[in-house]
Amino acid sequence: MIEVRELEVAFDGRVVARVESLDLNAGEIVGLAGESGSGKSMTALAILGLTRSLGADVRGSITLDGEELLGLGDAEWRALRGRRIAMVMQSPRGSLNPTLKLGKYFERTLALHGVEGTEADARIRTALADVSLDEVLLGRYPHQVSGGQAQRFAIALAVALRAEVLLADEPTSALDVTVQAQVVELLARLREEHGTAMLFISHDLAVIGRLADRVVVMRDGAVVEQGPAQQVLTAPEADYTKALIDAVPVIGRGRLA
Ligand SMILES: Nc1ncnc2c1ncn2[C@@H]1O[C@H](COP(=O)(O)OP(=O)(O)O)[C@@H](O)[C@H]1O
Ligand SMILES: [Mg+2]
Repeated sequence: MIEVRELEVAFDGRVVARVESLDLNAGEIVGLAGESGSGKSMTALAILGLTRSLGADVRGSITLDGEELLGLGDAEWRALRGRRIAMVMQSPRGSLNPTLKLGKYFERTLALHGVEGTEADARIRTALADVSLDEVLLGRYPHQVSGGQAQRFAIALAVALRAEVLLADEPTSALDVTVQAQVVELLARLREEHGTAMLFISHDLAVIGRLADRVVVMRDGAVVEQGPAQQVLTAPEADYTKALIDAVPVIGRGRLA
């Protein structure tokens, strides 16, 4: 569905993400790993057409079902975002509207994508239950909820949109292990039931190992290794990947194997 070719994201001439080739097929989960600052978020934001508004120069090609996305206008992007490609941002609280109660924000976002009335109510209720959030949260403003709650809310919202492609940027990093496991299960189910393709970004290889079919590893703005998850996680080629795997706590490494 998504084909990234010769992508380069640069700020003032400094390349922060270079991806020669990355494919995301229908129903596939690709894990994007790498330490902080390696260019993971910039890659995802480029796929959603948001890097330019951050002031970055973007080169190369990103296609969705063969249609070139780089160079689309704002109106065309608005038609795509949420409907065909949705994203769970890395710091969800900052991406929520501070002046809107969460319930209003949820309703408006769904309405923007043509989902209203009882269908919207049903989706909101199901999505909140999926991430174990109480409906009282719908009456709160973003600053009135915890970081973990904001993250779960952002996941619920992205899931409720039922986009074809989901870009999930460290979606479980602020969550305790129980909720983290629940979110991993939810994403796996989303793929099973709706065939959603996902780019799942995490610095945690144990979590990636539980979800991803393929793994891409980035370091210092470049891809150092990619391949089937089993192969990358159990027989990595790059020293950097080996170091990342060695950094996984032993209990997690058991899961990798
Ligand atoms: N607005 C910006 N202006 C300049 N550099 C930026 C900006 N945003 C991010 N960067 C740089 O881009 C690099 C990659 O960042 P990012 O993709 O967020 O890394 P990751 O998600 O892997 O932690 C970092 O070195 C960061 O400093
Ligand atoms: Mg990031």
